[in-house]
Amino acid sequence: MNDSGGPTRVSILGATGSIGSSTLRVLTHNPEQFAVVSLVAQRNVERLAEIALRTRAEFVAIADERQFAALKDHLSGSSIEVGAGGEAVIEAASRRADVVVSAITGYAGLRSTLAAARSGANLALANKEAMVTAGTMVRAALAKGGGALIPVDSEHAALFQSLWGQDRDAITQLILTASGGPFRTWSKEDIQQAAPDQALKHPNWDMGAKVTIDSASMMNKGLELIEAQQIFDIAPDRLDVVVHPQSIVHSLVAYHDGGQLAQLGVPDMQTPISAALRWPKRTKTSVPPLDLAQYGSLTFEPPDRDRFPCLALAEAAMRHGGAAPIAMNAANEVAVRAFLDGAFRFGGIPQVVSEVLDQTVAEAPVSLDEIAVIDADSRTKAHAAVAKFSK
Ligand SMILES: NC(=O)c1ccc[n+]([C@@H]2O[C@H](COP(=O)([O-])OP(=O)(O)OC[C@H]3O[C@@H](n4cnc5c(N)ncnc54)[C@H](OP(=O)(O)O)[C@@H]3O)[C@@H](O)[C@H]2O)c1
Repeated sequence: MNDSGGPTRVSILGATGSIGSSTLRVLTHNPEQFAVVSLVAQRNVERLAEIALRTRAEFVAIADERQFAALKDHLSGSSIEVGAGGEAVIEAASRRADVVVSAITGYAGLRSTLAAARSGANLALANKEAMVTAGTMVRAALAKGGGALIPVDSEHAALFQSLWGQDRDAITQLILTASGGPFRTWSKEDIQQAAPDQALKHPNWDMGAKVTIDSASMMNKGLELIEAQQIFDIAPDRLDVVVHPQSIVHSLVAYHDGGQLAQLGVPDMQTPISAALRWPKRTKTSVPPLDLAQYGSLTFEPPDRDRFPCLALAEAAMRHGGAAPIAMNAANEVAVRAFLDGAFRFGGIPQVVSEVLDQTVAEAPVSLDEIAVIDADSRTKAHAAVAKFSK
């Protein structure tokens, strides 16, 4: 229930994706506690319409305008309002809600994340690329709107919960755990030669394609370090990564008394999503309880930046700041797409990112338009690098 005693009003940007589906599972498990305001997808009209009818959403927006007629067709006879294109997506993000789940993939989710932050709703943030490219702006928009940022990314959700009510001055480190992905035990040469079907096999998490490839390259952990820097306003040298293949400990906060606080659970995104929807209240999920005895042992090891150069590239971009994280994110999005399209083997991804970062002057952008220029410019450079490194 929300503050006025009614159901918590939820909007989902990226409703047809992996995070969107996990969010809907939490909602379906607790039907009396939630009402759906807006739903957004890019082009999956059938699934979007099916979800909208099932959840009795107020408004649905499809980003691809060519799908507008099909969406209207699917929803004809219902009272659900329908929109298409960029402005409709912004309207969906801005409608009065208690919480907006921001789960569009990539830089494409930035403008709607900012609109949600300005709206006054709480921001349940999965779209890490928004914080990487415009973290300061997202925080400023939230401060103006009055809502809170509640991370959905499992590591940041764990950090958020391990920081809750604690003495901020006593923090010595935020330690993000990483599964190590499908190539954790592979040789450097084999990783470089890996193909898309091998990179898409994540050992623990069932996620969308982009974040799954990022997990395999450990760029995901690099993006998450920058996301953590932005969300928790913490210096880069206080952030660290430890590889934890079982993905049970979702991250840790170290305090100056020598203690560390962590959040644990079986790897299922319903848990961090359910915490974000009504924080500080917790919502029931269908996730099975964690039985540590069944796991027997949890293991930890340092990350290998030689075999996973994307992690080192992201750490360098984080330390540079300014335009570097934006350029790195854009180059990575282009490189991941090119890899999935068969332009090159897995080793091409860090080559493209490195090539673009080498050409980037790290001046801090001051507006969304400046961020858009850096993003577009970096994509142009990344396409040239893709051509250079293609088979
Ligand atoms: N999946 C996870 O477990 C997980 C965990 C932590 C963080 N995250 C982060 O959460 C975000 C979403 O990840 P995901 O795995 O859920 O991705 P996904 O399965 O690929 O889903 C992406 C969603 O965004 C929509 N979308 C894509 N481009 C769009 C655009 N330009 N305009 C409007 N909607 C658009 C898609 O619609 P269509 O279906 O119509 O294409 C889909 O609903 C990413 O930033 C990821 O890093 C994900």
